[in-house]
Amino acid sequence: MALKAGFALCGSFCTFHKAIPQIEELKNAGIDVIPIMSANAYETDTRFGKASEHIKKIENICGHKIIHTITDAEPIGPKKLIDALIIEPCTGNTIAKLAAGIADTSVTLAAKSNLRNGNPVIIAVSTNDALGNAAKNIGLLMNAKNIYFVPFRQDDCEHKPTSIVADFSKTKDTFLQAIVGKQLQPMIL
Ligand SMILES: Cc1cc2nc3c(=O)[nH]c(=O)nc-3n(C[C@H](O)[C@H](O)[C@H](O)COP(=O)(O)O)c2cc1C
Repeated sequence: MALKAGFALCGSFCTFHKAIPQIEELKNAGIDVIPIMSANAYETDTRFGKASEHIKKIENICGHKIIHTITDAEPIGPKKLIDALIIEPCTGNTIAKLAAGIADTSVTLAAKSNLRNGNPVIIAVSTNDALGNAAKNIGLLMNAKNIYFVPFRQDDCEHKPTSIVADFSKTKDTFLQAIVGKQLQPMIL
């Protein structure tokens, strides 16, 4: 049976153009991808594109409707809908909630619901405060059971010294390692 990955996008809108091709890459590897978006990601038009355009593109690639409410995210655990959850891009906001055990969005509830089955959650960090206010939350999650990170680097150390972005091209490899309980290395690029 095909592996099933949840792919959850949070409101780091400037990285959608890098995250969406990774969904295609997972699909091309024969992985069934269940798309999830935070309410902010699902509802907000920004200078990086209209929400309706992102939604159409993602649903076309996946062949599934996007889960974007807590009601639709809740069955992910009980019905064993996925083998692992990829959160890409993952905002500082969602990282803080995950670290604090808060599950008040489609994405954080999907994580909680998936973790209850002992399945991996894979985080692709994209936030300007990763080496600032979010650093403590990232550190906490690094030391948490069943949480893995898409390898990351500073993206503009001169102008944004606390910013970190995952190398999204390593998503499939991180997923394939995480489902056998391993962190893809090197984690810091
Ligand atoms: C245009 C735009 C770009 C943003 N980019 C980022 C980003 O790259 N990283 C981040 O952590 N937050 C970013 N934000 C802020 C988040 O969208 C905001 O914190 C939101 O509450 C996140 O909700 P979510 O984590 O539930 O998706 C951005 C907001 C806007 C409007």
